[in-house]
Amino acid sequence: MKPVNQLILSAIELLPKPVVKRFARRYIAGEELVDAIRVVTAINSQNMMGTMDVLGESVSIREESLAAVRECEEVLHSINNNHLDSNLSIKLTQFGLRIDEGFCYSNVKRLLEIASGYNNFVRIDMEDSSTTTPTLELYERLRSEGFENLGVVIQANMRRSENDIQHLISMKANIRLCKGAYLEPETIAFRDKEEIRLNYVKLLKMLLDGKCYVGMATHDDFLVDVGYRYIQEMNLQKSDYEFQMLYGVRSKLRDQIVADGHRLRLYVPFGQHWYVYSMRRFKENPQVVRYVLRALFYRD
Ligand code: FDA
Repeated sequence: MKPVNQLILSAIELLPKPVVKRFARRYIAGEELVDAIRVVTAINSQNMMGTMDVLGESVSIREESLAAVRECEEVLHSINNNHLDSNLSIKLTQFGLRIDEGFCYSNVKRLLEIASGYNNFVRIDMEDSSTTTPTLELYERLRSEGFENLGVVIQANMRRSENDIQHLISMKANIRLCKGAYLEPETIAFRDKEEIRLNYVKLLKMLLDGKCYVGMATHDDFLVDVGYRYIQEMNLQKSDYEFQMLYGVRSKLRDQIVADGHRLRLYVPFGQHWYVYSMRRFKENPQVVRYVLRALFYRD
């Protein structure tokens, strides 16, 4: 990115919250559970599955984590009561990973028990690199206790991912593969776009060869094409994979994937804590510089 654009991008942090909120609407279902239910009902009717996410992360107070767990419980009950085709995505730092790993473990376990009762599934999102090891450890612990309805995420930008995947393949893990949304030091992560893409392709092949169920989470045409190619070459069945995309991003691409007969899941975040998530999405939007300039200089 050009330095001037980088400068403009950093101005995004200075925008007043109501302005940011206007742009954020595109990426989040709303602030309440009913908003997410409405969105998932609509996308189900368009032949897409959902994964609902109660927004929030980096929680440092136990009571807040417990409140988030209760909200997620409500999500699981609502998915069942409304007959929605959706599972749940969670972030461990919302459930207390940074407070006490044991506390976080029991919070996730509680949700998994409820999800199991509904024959539903929980996916642990992957956060920044400080959480990778404890996230994978917690995942492994719960799997070894028999929770098959749990999946995790691998980030193609992380140099360690190849090793992590080798281990996860031996557990037949259900993996969402994404590029990685967090800026990490070059010592531990690829920073170059092409390198990340190439690593994504490599990891995807490893996972599919290893007979893992893969959620190909990307909006990148190149990677979607690679996914299509592997599906054909390896004669994959619908039960072997799905595509995943974020709510509010590239709706034409997602409609095309569905029209081509593939299973597609949309990540549907909702809740009061929309700011941090929306910021990550803005920064990935190629149009963001234009939006920021417009927000800074024009009022409509
Ligand atoms: P890339 O960023 O190159 O985007 C490809 C194209 O998509 C762009 O050229 C643009 O056209 C469009 N696009 C992408 N983002 C856009 C945006 N915000 N607004 C408008 N257009 C946009 N990361 C992580 O670290 N941990 C996780 O758990 C997850 N979970 C996750 C779930 C799902 C379902 C998805 C799709 C993604 C994630 N991610 C994630 C995020 C992921 O790591 C990555 O940051 C983004 O998906 C952007 O990468 P792409 O592969 O889309 O490529």
